[in-house]
Formats: sequence, C-alpha cells, structure tokens
Amino acid sequence: MEYNEAYSRYVGMIEETIGTLLPQTAVECPADGEIPAYLCETMRYSLLAGGKRVRPVLLLAACEMLGGALEQARVPAAALEMIHTYSLIHDDLPGMDDDDYRRGRLTNHKVYGVGHAILAGDGLLNYAYECLMKNALAYPQNLMGHVRAADVIARRAGVSGMIAGQSIDLLSEHMEPEAQRLCYIHAHKTADLLTAPLLAAGCIAGADGAQMEALSRFGACVGLAFQIDDDLLDVEGDAQEMGKQTGMDAQRGKMTWPALFGVAQSRARSQELWSQAEDALGSFGERAWFLHAFAETLRNRKK
Ligand code: IPE
Ligand code: IPE
Ligand code: MG
Ligand code: MG
Ligand code: MG
Repeated sequence: MEYNEAYSRYVGMIEETIGTLLPQTAVECPADGEIPAYLCETMRYSLLAGGKRVRPVLLLAACEMLGGALEQARVPAAALEMIHTYSLIHDDLPGMDDDDYRRGRLTNHKVYGVGHAILAGDGLLNYAYECLMKNALAYPQNLMGHVRAADVIARRAGVSGMIAGQSIDLLSEHMEPEAQRLCYIHAHKTADLLTAPLLAAGCIAGADGAQMEALSRFGACVGLAFQIDDDLLDVEGDAQEMGKQTGMDAQRGKMTWPALFGVAQSRARSQELWSQAEDALGSFGERAWFLHAFAETLRNRKK
C-alpha cells in the first residue's frame, strides 16, 4: 500500500469513529446518558474543524506496525484527539494564549463565549476517558492492554505531562529564556501528547520492553521537533495556511525555541531531531515504513 492510501485509510477510520462517538444531538435537556444539544455542538465545533489528526494517526499506525488489532485502537485514537482538542480550546482562552483563530475558524470561546468553551474542553476531556473505559470493557480478552493504554494517556495528558507543560509555559511568559526550562515546556506541553499514542498502541498491541523503549525515543524526538517547528511557523509561517494567527508568541513573550536560539539554530535543531526520530525506528525495519513516511511529511509541514 502506498503512503497516501494508508494515510487516508487511517484518517477515514478516525473521522468515522469520532462521528459515531459524538453525533450531533437534538434535545436541549435530554434523558440520562445523553449529551445536551448545545454542549454537544460546542464540542463538535472544535473537534470537527479539520485538525491534522497527527496523534490518532500515530496511534493507529503504531498499532498496525506492531501487529495489533486496529479495531481495538479506533476508540483510543479518537479519544486522544478529543484530549488534544480540549487542550487547544483551553490553550486559546483569554486567560491563556488568548487566540482568535484555530483550525481555520474562530476559536471556541469567540463563538460560544468563555464559559461554554471551558465546558466544551471539560466535556471533551471527560468524554475521552468515558470512551476509553467503555472500549476497554468491550475487549475483556485484552483488558490489561487497554487499561495500560488508558494509564499512559492519562499520565502523559495529565499533571506531570501536558498540563504541567502548559502550567510552566504560562509561568514563563516574559521571563528570560533558559534552555532547561524551555526543554521542560516543550517535552511536556507537546512531546508527551505525541508519545502517548505510540505507547498506548504498544500497550494495546502487547509490545515488548525494547519496542516500547524505541517508540518512546521516537515520540520524544518527534514531539520536540514538532513544537520547535510550531514555534518556527509562528515566526515565519502563513496564517491563512495554518488556520491560526502568527506572531503571537513574541507578542505574548512566550518562551520559544527561536526566542532563545534564533531561527537558524532552531531550524538546525529541528532537522537533527527529525533525523534522530528516523533512527529510533531502526529496530522495526521495513514494518516502520509508514511512520518513516509520516515523519517525513511532518518534517516538511507548512501548517
Ligand atoms: C497544535 O497541534 C498544538 C501544538 C502542540 C503545537 P497541531 O499542530 O497538531 O494542531 P491540529 O490538531 O492540526 O489543529
Ligand atoms: C500548545 O502550544 C500546546 C498545547 C498543549 C495546546 P502552543 O500554544 O504553541 O500551540 P498553538 O501555537 O497555540 O497551536
Ligand atoms: Mg500555548
Ligand atoms: Mg497557543
Ligand atoms: Mg505555538
């Protein structure tokens, strides 16, 4: 199978699963167990706005590479995209990065107001875990694999993972940039949520210790490179193409890679990390063909 076909197949599975898990509801105050129509609309607004789906694609691709059952990985992939989308909705709030555009449309709070945007994020976060638990119970023969996957996702998304990175990111605004602190921010606010799908796939597929180690190294390199590139795109990217405003990091005094090292050194570091990411896949041989190709497209991304 060639790359575009495989990529479209993964994205198709993700979109279908998201659509099934979160269909538009119609009732304002529904019966127990259903999502009220307005809350559902606010959650769907950001979730279905056309993100790149990097994290769920990583989960499905790693699962397939390891010989795991894709059918078991669909819901965890969609759940991870819900968690990522909640992190974006909250990241854009006036109390955080205060951004007006995301995924090519107005940010959630610009459309629904701050209160409802907070709830849309809360809703996506909580519903992600509801879906993960329900999916785990649906596969009793692999219950431990699914519980371990949920554990990895919870920790990487949580208070020593993505949320920790976001907290230090906020605390570091207008501070003199410093390498150790910057590495902490990028490793947690971004790399943790890009490593989570790889390790979750490993848990579902029953990967061994050496495979988990290789996936973890790949995720750490991809994650850091991805955030350095995001910082670079904020400096020199095209807002129209990216679907979000540029130049905001400097305006907000964010601690970014270009702010500390300059654009040229940041570009060089990103290239080095993308190469290290490819090396980390070495032990998987030919089976990692899709992850190699996917990393290559991310390396060249303009949005
Ligand atoms: C944006 O993530 C936030 C970062 C961690 C840089 P993505 O660049 O994956 O955003 P979407 O999902 O495509 O909108
Ligand atoms: C966001 O980092 C990381 C998250 C956890 C959402 P940024 O604040 O740089 O992401 P963008 O540039 O708003 O997408
Ligand atoms: Mg931010
Ligand atoms: Mg932001
Ligand atoms: Mg950014």
